[in-house]
Amino acid sequence: MRDTIRFLLDGKTVDLKDIDPTTTVLNLLRYDLRRTGTKEGCAEGDCGACTVALGELDGDQVKWRAVNACILFAPMLDGKALKTVESLGGQHPVQTAMVEHHASQCGFCTPGFVMSLWVRGREPSPPPVNDSLAGNLCRCTGYGPIVAAANAASGPAEDEADLVAALRKLATDEPLIIQRRNLHWFAPRTVHDLVSHLKIAGDSGAVTLVAGATDVGLWVTKQHRTLPIVVWLGAIPELQKIVETEDGLTLGAGVRYSDALPALARLHPDLGELLRRLGSVQVRNSGTVGGNIGNGSPIGDMPPALIALGASITLRSFEGVRTLALEDYFVAYGKQDLRSGEFIETITVPRPDPGRRVAIFKLSKRFDQDISAVCGAFSLAIEGGIVSEARIAFGGMAATPKRAAAGEAALIGRPWTDETVEMAAAALAEDFQPIDDMRASAAYRLTAAQNLLRKLHAGSPGVLSLEPVDA
Ligand SMILES: Cc1cc2nc3c(=O)[nH]c(=O)nc-3n(C[C@H](O)[C@H](O)[C@H](O)COP(=O)(O)OP(=O)(O)OC[C@H]3O[C@@H](n4cnc5c(N)ncnc54)[C@H](O)[C@@H]3O)c2cc1C
Ligand code: FES
Ligand code: FES
Repeated sequence: MRDTIRFLLDGKTVDLKDIDPTTTVLNLLRYDLRRTGTKEGCAEGDCGACTVALGELDGDQVKWRAVNACILFAPMLDGKALKTVESLGGQHPVQTAMVEHHASQCGFCTPGFVMSLWVRGREPSPPPVNDSLAGNLCRCTGYGPIVAAANAASGPAEDEADLVAALRKLATDEPLIIQRRNLHWFAPRTVHDLVSHLKIAGDSGAVTLVAGATDVGLWVTKQHRTLPIVVWLGAIPELQKIVETEDGLTLGAGVRYSDALPALARLHPDLGELLRRLGSVQVRNSGTVGGNIGNGSPIGDMPPALIALGASITLRSFEGVRTLALEDYFVAYGKQDLRSGEFIETITVPRPDPGRRVAIFKLSKRFDQDISAVCGAFSLAIEGGIVSEARIAFGGMAATPKRAAAGEAALIGRPWTDETVEMAAAALAEDFQPIDDMRASAAYRLTAAQNLLRKLHAGSPGVLSLEPVDA
């Protein structure tokens, strides 16, 4: 057992002891390490002003990820390498490009943009600039100059052999346990240890499982909640596994979106597009599919998509493993079928038959980094013009992600015609009585859901539509 967080800052080892385990990396940098270049804009993962680069071993290389320091807890640095804007020294080509293209005005957002671009420069095949920068907001310069700088910036290849060696030296199988005043952080290294720990701690009701902390981080920074016992899943290699077979895909609950994306996109392209619109690069570099399910939010994007595709989850505790159809996990608003001492271990998504009509639609006010007003997912089998099987699920329409039982029943056994689709659209009103909120009115939500079914029937390819929300 270790009680010291150990990570590399610009290649040098930093040991942290006696630290409140839910201290954010942003606060650690600004208040303890006096690296004030990293800024706090929103403290909720939205603006990217706090973007830093987190490096971890990937074979013989360092894999760098842009992450939001404001919702990353300090113990999540353990065993990793960290770079901040100070690490670049002021004359880095990315910084020079920002200056030459007049891409900074007040400068508050600039360190975050610079770090996102620095990481982008390390990618073997970088995504489009707009995708890379969707998680960085600027309120005064305007994006034109920033995008121009991004297109011009190219960092030199860096020799990271020393860093690889230093990261290897840091690697350990010992679990990290931090106990500070009444706060406890446990980072097991194996599923076996996780199960044992939850058996002891589970009944107290005070345990918070944390994966990427892109939801839980906000409980601390925005709701000022105290988390007495945190069990972090991010140091368990068994939960990071991705297994792709002819039949489908199994993701460990700790797999981050950015790692899951290629495999999910191979399963169905709409899943890849959905992930591209989920949060931002920074959010996808920390957040997990397991956390999206574990959170149980009615507006999480993955549950409706995965439910429509027939996904199941395994849940493990000291009593053993059980498997649930994903839709059965969501019991009521804020209530999931998670027993004491239990955690989601894997998520399995069957590969859709090639002939199946699958489409996933996300409706939100903005294309990037926005929560869905409605997320609709459809998977239909149509044989000889007759609908033989239908799985339809929506997010944003009820207190939980939910299947449209009446809508599905109205389709099954009937010809795939305008008339049937209108009957099924009408039946959606039996399935859902959505709420009015700031994202959309109830009337908008129901009409939009019905129109998504019509859109599917009209043969719209499986694209994710962007439509203004009449809230
Ligand atoms: C800026 C921003 C944008 C976002 N945009 C989107 C978006 O577009 N769409 C969307 O759906 N979400 C979005 N989110 C929400 C969030 O990123 C997702 O819900 C994410 O999947 C949470 O995963 P995580 O690993 O960070 O979970 P955490 O924050 O670590 O945990 C979330 C919850 O799941 C529980 N949990 C985690 N792992 C397990 C497990 N293995 N077993 C049981 N319970 C578990 C935790 O106890 C907690 O209750 C956004 C968040 C931010 C900050
Ligand atoms: S301060 Fe806004 S994303 Fe971190
Ligand atoms: S330069 Fe002022 S917020 Fe971007």
